[in-house]
Amino acid sequence: MTTARISIDRTNVVATINRRIFGSFVEHLGRCVYDGIFEPDHPTANEDGFRLDVVDLVKELGSTTIRYPGGNFVSGYKWEDGVGPRDRRPVRRDLAWHSLESNQVGLEEFGRWCELTGSELMMAVNLGTRGIESALDLLEYANGEAGTALADERVANGKTEPYDIRMWCLGNEMDGPWQVGHMSSDDYGKIAARTASAMKTADPSLELVVCGSSGSAMPTFGEWERVVLEHSYESVDYISCHAYYQERNGDLASYLASSLEMKYFIDTVVATADHVKHKLRSKKTIQLSFDEWNIWYLDEHQASEEVNDEWRFAPRQLEDVYSVADAVVLGNLLITLLQNHDRVGSASLAQLVNVIAPIMTEPGGDSWRQSTFFPFSVTSRLARGEVLTPRITVDTYDTAVYGAAPLVDSVVTADAETGTSAVFLVNRSQTESIEVAIDVSGLGASVITEAVTLNDADPYAKNTLADQNRVGLKDLTGSVLADGTLTVTLPPVSWSAIALG
Ligand code: AHR
Repeated sequence: MTTARISIDRTNVVATINRRIFGSFVEHLGRCVYDGIFEPDHPTANEDGFRLDVVDLVKELGSTTIRYPGGNFVSGYKWEDGVGPRDRRPVRRDLAWHSLESNQVGLEEFGRWCELTGSELMMAVNLGTRGIESALDLLEYANGEAGTALADERVANGKTEPYDIRMWCLGNEMDGPWQVGHMSSDDYGKIAARTASAMKTADPSLELVVCGSSGSAMPTFGEWERVVLEHSYESVDYISCHAYYQERNGDLASYLASSLEMKYFIDTVVATADHVKHKLRSKKTIQLSFDEWNIWYLDEHQASEEVNDEWRFAPRQLEDVYSVADAVVLGNLLITLLQNHDRVGSASLAQLVNVIAPIMTEPGGDSWRQSTFFPFSVTSRLARGEVLTPRITVDTYDTAVYGAAPLVDSVVTADAETGTSAVFLVNRSQTESIEVAIDVSGLGASVITEAVTLNDADPYAKNTLADQNRVGLKDLTGSVLADGTLTVTLPPVSWSAIALG
């Protein structure tokens, strides 16, 4: 059997965990909102029309900050359409997703849904078809104290206290030619800087996210970040990163190593942001908001029947069904985000329900967990305190896309307050179990409190409407903690978590 060794230096702290690293994303897209979180006729719906079975799953998932309302959708959105009496809200065409928007859910309803799920609302403003004025208006409506026109309108609509939204995205993916109102880096950098500066004049304590690239494969990647930050550096706090991964051409070996690409992405944006910092002689360090990340079989969607000319309400779009291999990759991406938590201050799994999502629903029917639900929920629950970088000694394997990739990846968290810690691991081998000996003596651990794994004899096994529990967590049997060494055996193509007390 292949073996690996891991050592942990308790003093080698990457960052204290900020719960925002476990954020997610709700966009007015497909059935994420309508027939997803919101379905007034569903037997579990509350008085607002929100499905409470979905609320329970969201809580179990452990997502924290929720980015809203887009995504591409936001670049044509009028936030005013989604507030006030519902019977007066207009139906509009959403050009981004070629669908009809009823506006029955807007800031007011979504704000209540966030309270219901215990989520922090992260809001995006429209810099595609709109600009500074509408951003300031939305800010006043959402966060203003009663006594000014728009804040009073909010109060009249039933929300006395301000929403106090802290994180704001300055548009979405403005580098993408598909974006409504797509701009050059120079044009976007200027409008983002002016909008950010106006918003900070209204409230200097806001945390603002400027758009980075919509993927590292974009021809403008790197240069986009440089130009945009040179314009906006002093007015913003985060630059966004978006990345989606999928298996291509049956190359599972490369796909399982996708987190190497995420690492490259992070390192490049950090280097660019720090270059601008030094060029501008700034004292401030920009953080990354990885506010769209996930598995997305984009190539298949573009070739599918969901792309058609009809204008429909809540069409089924981007409803990927995820396998065990997808979940292993997702678990590894989350490990990478934690390993880089010193610079990735916030992240959003895109998205939450039905649309490339860990949670699926049927209208009038069930809701269930996709394979990708499990690594996210367990990591969010167990990762507490501080992130530590383990030193991993393990063989590599060959991949067509990334060259040599380590067979095992891992991150460790330790909470000094409770004396608990957790080790998260992936085995990327398709054929071999790997026995890993982890020196946890520095963690002061004396007992294994939980040891789970996600794997299957069929790495392409999935949960579906017809078979909702085909894939799930299993006990990681044979795990032993003795004399300061934790020994575990990781099955092929697996993601695992071990909690220690
Ligand atoms: O998450 C789906 C879409 O992916 C978002 O709307 C957009 O920002 C990205 O291209």
